[in-house]
Amino acid sequence: MSESVSKQAVVTMRWREGCLEMIDQRILPARFEYLAYRSAAAMAEGIRAMVVRGAPAIGCAAAYGVALEALALAGASRAEFDAGMEQAFTILAASRPTAVNLFWALKRMRTVWHEGGHRTGVELAAALLAEAHEGLAEDIRINRAMGAFGAELLADGARVLTHCNAGALATAGHGTALGVIRSAVEAGKRISVIADETRPFLQGARLTAWEMVQENIPVTLITDNMAGHLMSLGEVDAVVVGTDRVAANGDVANKIGTYMVAVLARRHGIPFYVACPLSTIDLAIADGGAIPIEERAVEEVTGFRDCQWAAKGVKVRNPAFDVTPAELVSGLITEKGVVPEPNRQRIRELFSLA
Ligand code: MRU
Repeated sequence: MSESVSKQAVVTMRWREGCLEMIDQRILPARFEYLAYRSAAAMAEGIRAMVVRGAPAIGCAAAYGVALEALALAGASRAEFDAGMEQAFTILAASRPTAVNLFWALKRMRTVWHEGGHRTGVELAAALLAEAHEGLAEDIRINRAMGAFGAELLADGARVLTHCNAGALATAGHGTALGVIRSAVEAGKRISVIADETRPFLQGARLTAWEMVQENIPVTLITDNMAGHLMSLGEVDAVVVGTDRVAANGDVANKIGTYMVAVLARRHGIPFYVACPLSTIDLAIADGGAIPIEERAVEEVTGFRDCQWAAKGVKVRNPAFDVTPAELVSGLITEKGVVPEPNRQRIRELFSLA
C-alpha cells in the first residue's frame, strides 16, 4: 500500500490486523510503501531480498516470522505445530548469514517455544507474538541508550561521516549509528552528516540520506570514493557506523567499504566509532576471520535494478560485508556504555556488566 511519509519517526515495521507490515526498502526513496507478511517463508524471502535489512531490523523481522508461523499453526496437532515451527526456524536462519542479530532473535524465540511445551498452540502463538513485540520495543530502548552514550562523543558542530544505513530503517526505530546522531541533535548539538553512497545497494544514498532529509538533519551525499579526499581536506570530524557482527576480540563486520573508511580515518587521525548493541556481539566467534560474509547476486555489481552497464560475461565478486580489525576501532558504542579501543578483555568485561 502506498502512503505519504509521516514527518514523525520512521516506522520500519508495524503489527496490523494479524500481519507484519514492513516498509519496502528496495524502492525507497522513489516510493514509500508497506508490504504485508503473513508467514515465516514470506518473511525469510523479505529478509533475503532486503525488503527489510540492517542487523537489528532483520532480528525483529525474523522474530515476527516465527510468531506468524505459530499463529498459522495454532490449531494444529502438537506434532504438526512442532514440525511446522522447526521448518520456520530453518528457513528464517537461511535467509541471510552475516547479521548475528538474526540468530540471536531466533534463539530467543526458540526458548519461548521450548519453555512453553505445556501450553496449547493458541497460548504458545500468543506468547511468541508477545516476545516479538517485546523485541521491537526493546530495540528502540537499546538504541536510545546507545544514542545517549554516543552523543557525548560528538562535539557541537561535528561533521560525521557514516557508511551504509544504520538508521531507523535498519532497526525498530531511532537507529544505531544514526541514533547517535539523532540523540546528539536532540541534545542541542549542531551535527551534520556525510553519507557515503554505499555501492552496490545504495543504502547511504537511498536510505540514510532520505532519513536525514525527513528530519531536516543536514546531510551531504558523497560517492564512496570521495571519503578519503574529504578527510584529507579536514572536512570529517568523526566516523560513526553500525555493525552486523562483532567478534569476541572486537573485530567488526559491517557493510562492504567500512574497512576502507576505517583505514582512511586512522590515516587522518579521525575517530572511528561503531554503534553496537550487545545483541550484535558474537562471543562464539574468536576473531573477524570467522565471521560469515554474505556474497550477493552479481547483478548488484554489474548494474542497478533494470539498468545493467557492465560487459556481459565479466567475472564479478559481490561480498556484502567486510571486516574492520579491532585495532582501527576507536570505540564501540553500546547500550551499557562506550568500550574504548575494544579488545577481548574489554568485551568480556562488558558482558559482566550486562
Ligand atoms: O546489507 P544490509 O543493508 O543489511 O547491511 C546493513 C549494515 O551493514 C548496517 O550497517 C548494519 O546492519 C548495522 S544496522 C543498525
